[in-house]
Amino acid sequence: MKKVMYNQFGDESVLELVEQVVPGIQKDQLLIRVKAVSINPLDWKVYGGEMKLMSGSKFPKSVGIDFSGIVDQIGSDVTRFKVGDAVIGLLDVFKGGALANYVAVHETDISPKPANVSFEKAAALPVTGLSALQIIDQLAAVGPKQDVLINGATGGIGLFAVQIAKKRGARVTAVVSTKGVEEAIKWGADTVVDYTKQAIKQLNQQFDAVIDLSTKLSFKEAKSLMKPRAVFVSTLPSPLTLLYSFVNNLISGKKLKILILKPTVDGLTTLTKLAETDLEVVLDKTYSLSNVREAYRESRRTKIMGKSVIVLD
Ligand SMILES: NC(=O)c1ccc[n+]([C@@H]2O[C@H](COP(=O)([O-])OP(=O)(O)OC[C@H]3O[C@@H](n4cnc5c(N)ncnc54)[C@H](OP(=O)(O)O)[C@@H]3O)[C@@H](O)[C@H]2O)c1
Repeated sequence: MKKVMYNQFGDESVLELVEQVVPGIQKDQLLIRVKAVSINPLDWKVYGGEMKLMSGSKFPKSVGIDFSGIVDQIGSDVTRFKVGDAVIGLLDVFKGGALANYVAVHETDISPKPANVSFEKAAALPVTGLSALQIIDQLAAVGPKQDVLINGATGGIGLFAVQIAKKRGARVTAVVSTKGVEEAIKWGADTVVDYTKQAIKQLNQQFDAVIDLSTKLSFKEAKSLMKPRAVFVSTLPSPLTLLYSFVNNLISGKKLKILILKPTVDGLTTLTKLAETDLEVVLDKTYSLSNVREAYRESRRTKIMGKSVIVLD
């Protein structure tokens, strides 16, 4: 089978399509024939070496976190799935390995694919959909009639965060670049701010939750946009910011919450149900496995509307 691997940290040129044996499975594992894999900014942070502390520096390493596919084999202890089931799932963020024709997983890594969603779109759900659920329902605990600002609202997490915040009854202000204005309105945003035309720090409004998906807005800068007991959500965990948030949250009404994605079976099931009813998945581009370098290069350098995915044969 084909698999994307790399032997040193660097840009997309380090990614190689190599021949590997199909992995064997333990009795509590399943073998999945991968149909599509989504592209996440986390991928290039890991292969770029920005996350060495978590990923380690041993090579070779693999790429690809979330995927859709079909169950090809099951171990004798597997009870929730059978051969032929269509599934979505995700692997360890720092180890990856989904960009391959086959991947070995545990039952807890996967969930049934939403029935009415294509394999391409379904692959785009796990990482950013679970991140959006964790941000809206747990970190920001968004509720009815709350004012929520989502900075970076048309990217992978933003796509779902806007829709889920609306479902929770919030009033959503989406911050996007010009290309995303119409999309954000379509996904349900009440107010749209084009950050290329208006600096959000100049907004004359305060919010119950300020969610930064762009990594460009700091907690300090966001404070003027926050109500006295509001929450700021950052997606950039580091030992220093985690310590800072712990101390800040003991003494200040304005809370700093940091996303550390914690995938759960319940989360994946909730996401599947949402996607089966009314969660829209928007795909920007699809690529083939042989164009993996181009896929990552373009995704890193250009503006993506929703998600892009790599489709396998
Ligand atoms: N900590 C964790 O566990 C965890 C888990 C998942 C993801 N993440 C991180 O979360 C972040 C968001 O993920 P994602 O998949 O949504 O990324 P993404 O698809 O790249 O989206 C980022 C968004 O930020 C917008 N943006 C860029 N510059 C901006 C600015 N100056 N002001 C406002 N918006 C701006 C982009 O819009 P334009 O392209 O239109 O400029 C884009 O919509 C990434 O850094 C990712 O690595 C962290």
